[in-house]
Amino acid sequence: MANIAIMGFGTVGAGVAKVLEMNGASMAARLEEPLHLKYILDVRDFDQSPYADRMIKDFSIIENDPEVEVVVETIGGKGVALDFTRRCLQAGKHVVTSNKELVATHGKELLAIARARNVNYLFEASVGGGIPLLRPMYECLAANEIEEIIGILNGTTNYILTRMVQDEIAFSTALQEAQGMGYAERDPAADVEGLDACRKICILSDLAFGREVLPDEVSTEGISGIHLKDVDIAAAAGYRIKLLGRAIRLPEGRQTAYVAPHLVREDCPLAGVDGVFNAVMLRGNAVGDVLFYGRGAGDLPTASAVLSDVMDAIAHRSKRRNLDWSQSAQMVSASELPMSWYLRGAFSAGDARAVCGPVTLLGDGAVITPPMTAAKAREAAEKLGAAAMLHVL
Ligand code: HSE
Repeated sequence: MANIAIMGFGTVGAGVAKVLEMNGASMAARLEEPLHLKYILDVRDFDQSPYADRMIKDFSIIENDPEVEVVVETIGGKGVALDFTRRCLQAGKHVVTSNKELVATHGKELLAIARARNVNYLFEASVGGGIPLLRPMYECLAANEIEEIIGILNGTTNYILTRMVQDEIAFSTALQEAQGMGYAERDPAADVEGLDACRKICILSDLAFGREVLPDEVSTEGISGIHLKDVDIAAAAGYRIKLLGRAIRLPEGRQTAYVAPHLVREDCPLAGVDGVFNAVMLRGNAVGDVLFYGRGAGDLPTASAVLSDVMDAIAHRSKRRNLDWSQSAQMVSASELPMSWYLRGAFSAGDARAVCGPVTLLGDGAVITPPMTAAKAREAAEKLGAAAMLHVL
């Protein structure tokens, strides 16, 4: 029998208990041993919960119980979650988490402790919710050099954009709905301003390129500056607006990453990804393009990913996953890469051509420029008096 503990009984932690309840028997059959949820740690009282008999408030009970082999950290943030994770790993316990903030900022240190103690620190649920993404990337695509990653990485913003476009629901109403369904972060600004997507592209980049990229090295723009007018112009011209995280391998060991809203052509698979769904496109130098798609947030999808890691840790007790990004990345600012841009304003097509070169006209005073750096695009936008400027994929 394998004993596990959950730290943090919020949306994801409670989802883990629920999926264990639902599927514990089939999981035990696959593992050839039962899983036993021994403790649930939370500062709050859950007297009426069916799990009341195993609720605890004292972390040291988990830390000092040699029977607990795997600890699920679903507390979130970098406060006690960091301290407890360090101590669990140091106590020789595997730790499984959905905490993208912690993995993106302290993954390097926590993986080093796990390595020293010969245990695993696993975080499939930290990116893409329930989508099997990280393990397929580091296992099934291990024979590739990953060249590029592009993804819709935040369910809340994708839900908001979809509701605004398809149902003409106001931004704040759509956000409230996403909060009600347990998709949004405690501070929804982390979703809306792109920080959550930024943490996730950092983790993907760390794993894909084996070098540490910290969130403050990644230029990040959210969806709060998007005007409905641009959503409408884009839709009429055959584009959708999506918040994308992107990481690119560059020559000479360099790399870049950024998060920003993009116009995406309707024939791109990412354009049709709606609601809470996430999708990630990877390009490997042997396999070519691969697309991952599924629910990016929510209790049960995220718990599905958490428990796949729990099972992995138990099935391979004495075998460590070789995950590592101990060296720093050589980052290049994404603003140095030539890209196409959407500009909208009260300028004529002739003016746009004179300033930007051969533009594509979208109608309603909007154009798409030929590829140019962000600095050149900003210069052009200023000359033309543009009211909106967005990336184009
Ligand atoms: N707030 C996150 C999202 C939760 O909306 O995608 C899943 O990481």
